[in-house]
Amino acid sequence: MLKILITGVSGQLGGLMHRIFEMKHEVYGHSSSELDITNRSLLLCVIRNIKPDVILNCASYNHVDSAEENSLLAEEINSTGVKYLAELSNIVGAKLVHISTDYVFDGTKGIPYDENDKTNPLNVYGRTKLRGEEYVKEICEQYIIVRTSWLYGTNKRNFVNTILTLSHNKNEILVVNDQKGNPTYAPELAMRIDKLITEGFSGLFHCSGDGICSWYEFATSIIHFSNKQNVRILPVPSEYYPSKANRPRFSALDNSKITSSIGIKMPNWKDSLEGYLMQMR
Ligand SMILES: NC(=O)c1ccc[n+]([C@@H]2O[C@H](COP(=O)([O-])OP(=O)(O)OC[C@H]3O[C@@H](n4cnc5c(N)ncnc54)[C@H](OP(=O)(O)O)[C@@H]3O)[C@@H](O)[C@H]2O)c1
Repeated sequence: MLKILITGVSGQLGGLMHRIFEMKHEVYGHSSSELDITNRSLLLCVIRNIKPDVILNCASYNHVDSAEENSLLAEEINSTGVKYLAELSNIVGAKLVHISTDYVFDGTKGIPYDENDKTNPLNVYGRTKLRGEEYVKEICEQYIIVRTSWLYGTNKRNFVNTILTLSHNKNEILVVNDQKGNPTYAPELAMRIDKLITEGFSGLFHCSGDGICSWYEFATSIIHFSNKQNVRILPVPSEYYPSKANRPRFSALDNSKITSSIGIKMPNWKDSLEGYLMQMR
């Protein structure tokens, strides 16, 4: 049994990880109001008190567009807070498990990115998340970094919930068709993070749903699997929705390393989505 401290438990992934781990480990889950990762002295006090074997950082500033205007806050949470966690995990001999993003890439590769590919984030969110990763690699004696993408699977803010909400009062929804990536079902990701931790792996891993689609194809499948025959999804270019942040046009991740490490392939994104939406009905 491991002693695990989880940050960001009120978020999508943090909440799931908390539920998975509390069945078999001694878990200390903290929301942002209980444990702000930018408050170093509070972190030090909590971490010294618990002396965890593992610190799982699910806390993050994920508002991609707002980050352009609130870059200091994004930097504080995604970079400086992660630096504190890295320093303090060393003090108590804990392994830091940190979650990052496909938005560390610029989208020009054209085939899925693996862990050795050059990063080049296009926006503040991606740059601050990359700096967080760099702190973990530079400082931590023991770490796991998991990059994921297009996460959904809880009742929190995510693309699936946005499309379902829009479908209640719209017959047509316009969705961008020129940004491609991998939708990732959060419980599938959570199960792989659990395996990486409990089986003692270290290093950087990509983990996202198998298969690639555009946001338009993702939305079309959400409507299809939720049987909303009167709602049409229409493809539009990114320029149709001017946004503050630039986004990569192709940020699919290559899961080969995690698949060969833990011996389980991530399911195809459409199968996961269908299962999730059937269970929601
Ligand atoms: N969601 C995606 O599509 C996606 C894609 C790629 C990668 N990721 C990565 O996956 C991880 C988990 O994402 P998610 O979707 O679970 O995010 P989420 O639902 O937005 O949860 C993030 C959590 O971080 C907490 N938080 C924010 N500032 C904090 C602070 N200063 N101290 C402590 N906690 C703080 C938030 O609390 P409050 O709600 O109280 O602010 C929230 O509970 C993140 O590292 C993210 O970068 C997500």
